[in-house]
Amino acid sequence: MSHDPWRMGFHLMPPTGWLNDPNGLCQLDGTYHVFFQYSPDWPTPDAPRGWGHAFSKDLVHWSGDARFAIAPDTPDEASGAYSGCAVPVEGGARLYYTGNVKEPGNFDYVHKGRRANQILIEAVTDPAVPGGLVLGEKNVLLRNADYPAFCTCHVRDPKVWREGDAWWMVLGARDEDDRGLVLVLRSDDGRTWKNAGTVRSTEPFGFMWECPDRVALCGREWLSFCPQGMSERPWSNGMRDVSGYLSVPEGEKIGDAGELALDAQGFHLWDRGFDFYAPQSFVDEGGRTLLIGWMGMPEAPYESAPDALTWCHCLTVPREVTPGADGTPLQWPARELEALRGARHELAGGGTITLDEHRADVVVEHVAGSLELTLDGALAISWDGAELALRFLDGSVGCGRTERTVPCDNLYNLRVLIDNSAVEAFANDGELVFATRWFPRSDNLRIDTKGQSLCIIWEMGDGVAGTYE
Ligand code: FRU
Repeated sequence: MSHDPWRMGFHLMPPTGWLNDPNGLCQLDGTYHVFFQYSPDWPTPDAPRGWGHAFSKDLVHWSGDARFAIAPDTPDEASGAYSGCAVPVEGGARLYYTGNVKEPGNFDYVHKGRRANQILIEAVTDPAVPGGLVLGEKNVLLRNADYPAFCTCHVRDPKVWREGDAWWMVLGARDEDDRGLVLVLRSDDGRTWKNAGTVRSTEPFGFMWECPDRVALCGREWLSFCPQGMSERPWSNGMRDVSGYLSVPEGEKIGDAGELALDAQGFHLWDRGFDFYAPQSFVDEGGRTLLIGWMGMPEAPYESAPDALTWCHCLTVPREVTPGADGTPLQWPARELEALRGARHELAGGGTITLDEHRADVVVEHVAGSLELTLDGALAISWDGAELALRFLDGSVGCGRTERTVPCDNLYNLRVLIDNSAVEAFANDGELVFATRWFPRSDNLRIDTKGQSLCIIWEMGDGVAGTYE
């Protein structure tokens, strides 16, 4: 795969096979750990799914192991070691995840036939082992009988945090009325958990909420989650599943709140592009909140593995999340990525440049009037004074992707990361973000710009080549 022209230079990919959600994000003794949903035997049908693992000192140069970090090798996770998180503790981390079990038989797997086990692994840091972490045994903490009676058997994706003496867990769930919600649990030790409440929406909002997360910035909280069943919403672009966040009213907390109902009208998509789902946040040892998403979608009508690739999907770059002027989260590429910048070019007042490698970091610090950036004549990112658009001019390069637009009457800055078959665009300090895969056929990267703005174009190096060698 390392010779595949579509492999990335600064987006994490699976060693082989399939990748989906980022899992277990944390920083321990200076090392960043990124686990992810991984099926090395994909595209074999029903290939086992567990956790893969990559790690890095600088968020740019990565190492990893092509084998499972967590293999679905016990009866409590027979149908997959599903998504979960990491909580740093003295000497290591606790890893929490869902063991998914589909019982053989004629079941609907919603109301019957599925077991959702929440499993804990205690991991110890050890600089002598590759990856620096030794994973201990698996302990099932919670089983179906432990969840409130109104839950179906869809309960998964634990995200755990500590505040004061308390440990809090959120779990994504589907209730017997087919409404998505989040279960909130509390623990004194991170091992024994008790139901402590729910977070719901004031009106029905999808049938299942996957991958819940709590983002806390300057004392305020947001519930991030992935509602399923959104295809009829005017803003969902027909996608069944989307990912976004709801703000928690000031003074309230997700833990501690008992029964919390959030106003679904305030739902905000994390990303306006084609390929973004199941993000997870974490706070690093320097206190930064970083967010990584899966640059893929469940149920998308467009392709992510054209021409029989033997691998599928990647993660976004780590995005630093900060509160904007009104408190709303902004997302910006982690500053470490600038270490990959090489030669610098400028295009003023429009022009064209062709780079040898298919990777660039394009920065427009001050947008002056309408602006258009076109990549390989196939993918245009444009602003006309009224809307910001990501548009495929050559449908074959989009593999079924067409266009995404968002109203925007004032664009003041724009940054576009181009990394072989991944593009991420950040506008207005990260208020609006678009992630998309694309499948260009040229080895060179051609960038055409139109408008009066000064575009700075950095060539970008490769930090992930050889990650799993
Ligand atoms: C989201 C998800 C999670 C689940 C995992 C399985 O993409 O469906 O809810 O834990 O993927 O791979």
